[in-house]
Parts: sequence; C-alpha cells; structure tokens
Amino acid sequence: MSRLAEDRIGAIIIFGPPGAGKGTQARRIAARCGIPQVSTGDMIRDEMHRETELGRKAQNKIAAGKLIGDELVNALATARLAQPDCERGFLLDGYPRTAGQVGHVDRLLQSLGHRTTVIEIQIGYNELIRRITGRRLCPKCGAIFNIHSQPPAISDVCDVCHARLVVRTDDRAEVIGERLRAYEEETRPIFEVFRNKGEMIHAVQGEEAEEVVFETIFGLLDRI
Ligand code: AP5
Ligand code: MG
Repeated sequence: MSRLAEDRIGAIIIFGPPGAGKGTQARRIAARCGIPQVSTGDMIRDEMHRETELGRKAQNKIAAGKLIGDELVNALATARLAQPDCERGFLLDGYPRTAGQVGHVDRLLQSLGHRTTVIEIQIGYNELIRRITGRRLCPKCGAIFNIHSQPPAISDVCDVCHARLVVRTDDRAEVIGERLRAYEEETRPIFEVFRNKGEMIHAVQGEEAEEVVFETIFGLLDRI
C-alpha cells in the first residue's frame, strides 16, 4: 500500500545544497501529506528573530555560512519532534547534516519506529547561485519568493501576510562558498550512513520548474 494511504506517513528527509529548493518543496509536500515541515534553518532564524539566547549565539555563525553546533541543533529538533503534530510523521528539511546529527536522528527514528524516505534534490552551481541571490523571505510567515522565478505580486511584500520581505543574512555572495563547502564536506558524507543501513537516496532533478519537482517527489512518495 502507498505510504500516503497509511495512517503513519513516517519520516521524509530532504537533502540538497543551499538553494536547491528544499524549503519550497518541503512546505508543499508537508502540507499535502498533512505532516509538519521541520526545518532547523527556519527554527534557528525564528530564534534569531525573537532575539533569544540561542538566536544571539547563532547569529554570527549563520551570517558566516557556518553550521551551528550539533548539541544545540539536536536539542532543538528533539523538542520539535516530540510535539503531538509529529506523531504521524514529519518532513526533515536541512536536518541532519553532520555525522553527529545523523547518529542522533537514527536513534530517534528507531525509537519512534518510523519508516524513512531519503530524497536529495540535485542542482548545478549556476542555478543555485541564481536562486540564492534572487531569494526573498517573509520573516513573519516563512513564505519563500524569488525575484526571478516566484516574484511576489507587489515588490518586496509577502503575498500571504503582507509583511516586508527580507534577504537572508547568509544569502550574500561571499557566504555562499562556505555554505556549499559545509554541504559537500559535512553533509554529503552522511549519505553513506543511510546507504549502509540499506536506505536508498532518491535523487530528484531540482532544476525543473517548481511544480514539476513537486510532482516528481509526490509521485515518488506515492509509489514507495
Ligand atoms: P537552511 O535554512 O537549512 O539553508 P540551506 O540548507 O543552506 O538551504 P536554503 O534554505 O538556502 O535553500 P533551500 O534548498 O531551502 O531552497 P529554497 O526552497 O529556499 O540553513 C541555513 C543555516 O542555518 C545553515 O547554513 C546553518 O548555519 C544553520 N543550520 C540549519 N540547519 C542546521 C543543522 N541541521 N545543523 C547545523 N546548522 C544548521 O529555494 C531557493 C530559492 O529558489 C527561492 O527563492 C525559491 O523561490 C527558488 N526556487 C525553489 N525551487 C525553484 C524551482 N524549481 N525553480 C525556480 N526557482 C525555485
Ligand atoms: Mg531552506
């Protein structure tokens, strides 16, 4: 039976380099499946926006494109995944992304008994630079826009909640190299951990239009 017809959807993990479209797709897939999108990046940005202690600690690292420490991120994710809306499953966007996080997630998923699907959205360098430099984010509701491909109806204003859109502090050209390095050197190696457990990494071509990528991922989830 397709997992989408089952009561428990389980864990869907979306990997991909910065700008691949994880957040854009995660939001849509999560909404369609009726499970929450759990994005550690969004959670950290929310802490920064609310100027909490964690947010203040994270600020410089984010602006420099460096990863936040495993302990902090694992604690944030653990608390979020314990919420009742995660019982049927959840979609992980940007987590885990280091060896120290994947071990933690593995134990967590085993204890929850969740079936896991791992997806990587693939995208070439030129397109990801174009996407990152064109991205505009709503700081209030988290909606994602792009001045090239998904412009808001009114320039710099969120279509959903009408807040003023912002450019992320880590979307500056000089920071992108460090974010890519972190993905290649710290995140990509953890694919091996999944493969060693017999999990397949489902590669999805991310350079297609948003709708096409969505249908590809949704179709995949429906089949397996
Ligand atoms: P995070 O927020 O996770 O950022 P990221 O992984 O670098 O990825 P992005 O959010 O930049 O890209 P995306 O793939 O979500 O693309 P999007 O859908 O927005 O992490 C940020 C930072 O937080 C990290 O660097 C680190 O410091 C910290 N952090 C987070 N998690 C952590 C963890 N687990 N451990 C340690 N530190 C952590 O799309 C990009 C743009 O393209 C948008 O403008 C969108 O509109 C557009 N677009 C999307 N799809 C398409 C399409 N198909 N065609 C055309 N345009 C498209
Ligand atoms: Mg994102």
